[in-house]
Amino acid sequence: MRSYSIALIPGDGIGRDVTAAGWSVLETAAKHAGFVLTGTEFPWSCTFFKETGRMMPQDGIDTLRAFDAILLGAVGWPTEVPDSVSLHGLLLPIRKAFVQYANIRPHRLLPGVTGPLRAENFDILCIRENTEGEYSGAGGRVHQGTQDEVAVETSIFTRAGVERILRFGFEQARARRGKLASVTKSNAQKYSMVFWDEITGKLAADYPDVAVTSYHVDALAARMIMAPESLDVVVASNLFGDILTDIGAAIQGGLGYAASANINPDRSAPSMFEPVHGSAPDIAHLGIANPIATIWSGAMMLDHLGETAVADRIMKAVEATTARGIGTIAGKDRTEAITAAVVAALI
Ligand code: NAD
Ligand code: IPM
Ligand code: MN
Repeated sequence: MRSYSIALIPGDGIGRDVTAAGWSVLETAAKHAGFVLTGTEFPWSCTFFKETGRMMPQDGIDTLRAFDAILLGAVGWPTEVPDSVSLHGLLLPIRKAFVQYANIRPHRLLPGVTGPLRAENFDILCIRENTEGEYSGAGGRVHQGTQDEVAVETSIFTRAGVERILRFGFEQARARRGKLASVTKSNAQKYSMVFWDEITGKLAADYPDVAVTSYHVDALAARMIMAPESLDVVVASNLFGDILTDIGAAIQGGLGYAASANINPDRSAPSMFEPVHGSAPDIAHLGIANPIATIWSGAMMLDHLGETAVADRIMKAVEATTARGIGTIAGKDRTEAITAAVVAALI
């Protein structure tokens, strides 16, 4: 019997609720499809940090390496642990250590969900560079606390890193509607983004079937709101992709619907699946977090593991649920009720 071992990292706040919800849907789907999913839960979080002084044990990365995939809820509890410590102690090191360089985020409206836009017929796939760029973590501060203080945060763009994410974007566009939006800002950033544009132009020659357009990030942000249906695949650097995918989440009805996959395309290490949203301290422990983003991320995980038919079945169950008006209005349905409706639609 096919079997997959999954590392579960619920993390903080609503991360715990949505991971439990997502996992129950995945377990049901696996049971019905006749394969085994084994989940091993790790308590790594800000609570773990308060107890141990670390977000994960020293050998955390080695431990995770043995799994087929990772399902993560959310990390961060800023009143207890600074975000700069918690995220750089857990989420970001996993993405980097496992070379999960492609962060894939689909943005489309589920049936029954009303977004803030007039446009309803958009289907955008954002591909965000996930290991370098503006979030490389290179920098420092000198003369701290004095009037002479200087803070430097250096973006790092390598040819290998830019080429592989752009190539990934071209491949996704080729497999979809053949349109690629390459996100730049080369009018202001005259080194890194000119480099990005040059590599986009060079790769375009390998993909004559893909229509590639370079957009400045500010213009693309506006386009995602004014004409989202004109976009197919969007490929962006780490910071630009981070911001644009929260716009993507907003136009699909909110962060409760936005799924993501941190993919290691070479499969040399596990990939990680997580909702785009964070720990939502404002609604934590209230039982009203929308689990759909996590369930969708779980479907992306099964798809990555080769269980494409089951992944499709989960998405059909989510769509059947929202089409009935369940999970479509923030705060109306409880996490458990939405999860139960998806599970019921699966079986
Ligand atoms: P957030 O995504 O946690 O919340 C933003 C807003 O969206 C809040 O009003 C929240 O209630 C709402 N929201 C988010 N997810 C929802 C859901 N599933 N259902 C209903 N409403 C939802 O962003 P934030 O407030 O900027 O960050 C809170 C903490 O999470 C910080 O520590 C931040 O660094 C961290 N964070 C972690 C991740 C991650 O682990 N991947 C992502 C983003 C933010
Ligand atoms: C995301 C989040 C993270 C990121 C933060 C929490 C570091 O915002 O996954 O979009 O920017 O990568
Ligand atoms: Mn983000």
